[in-house]
Amino acid sequence: MKLVKVKSHEEMSVFAANYILDKVKSNSQVNLGLATGGTPVRTYELLVDDYRRNSTYYQNVYTYNLDEYVGIPIDHPNSYHAFMFEHLFNHINIPEKNIHIPNGLSEDIYEEAHNYETIIDGIGGVDLQLLGIGENGHIGFNEPGTPFDRETHIVTLTESTRKANSRYFESLDHVPERAITMGIASILKSRGILLLASGESKAEAISQMFTGKSSIDCPASVLKYHPNVVVVADEQAVSKLKAAMILSHS
Ligand code: F6R
Repeated sequence: MKLVKVKSHEEMSVFAANYILDKVKSNSQVNLGLATGGTPVRTYELLVDDYRRNSTYYQNVYTYNLDEYVGIPIDHPNSYHAFMFEHLFNHINIPEKNIHIPNGLSEDIYEEAHNYETIIDGIGGVDLQLLGIGENGHIGFNEPGTPFDRETHIVTLTESTRKANSRYFESLDHVPERAITMGIASILKSRGILLLASGESKAEAISQMFTGKSSIDCPASVLKYHPNVVVVADEQAVSKLKAAMILSHS
């Protein structure tokens, strides 16, 4: 894993947007794995700014989101569908048929999970997977304890994740209890991974990821097994990492 230490959330976002644009501007077909949450919002805003300035071409870009809540309609303001359209898809010229997000309202969510994995297998894994990281080290909605060989599946969200996400809902009671998520094995199929971390609340997870043994207790620690991972973290997010560890991964 390569660590890029940056000063701020803004610097992290600029790095991430440029990294993604490098792929997009190659003009050949690119399969991007995307994440929601607070971390990538500014990155998406920078992609939209770039699109407005440069008319960057997204017709060859295909996207695959990591996850979606189970049981809320796609037009619900807190669905990850709504999030992606609000922050990115409504503002760039990506064809709707290129966009893939798990359907958490599917009649058979287990079949939906299976079908989603088949789509990922069909492209041989995404070219670049953008990831955030949970305070407990989760990636996608793969909570601690998730076996590393899980493909897209249905999860019951932990209390800590529901609490962290309740900031977007009226109250904790409104946060769905389940989600459909790419599994750790699905994420590992990606050709490249870009993980973003910003803020003090991610410091423990980042430290676990780099210093601890790879263990299901910290799902992100599985990324040690992947040959092409770049972690972009700001000063607060690396505050629990020793200087020597930062240097050895830079
Ligand atoms: C989002 C996702 C989650 C988030 C993580 C961090 O699609 O899969 O793993 O990346 O919960 O969320 P934020 O960025 O809100 O701190």
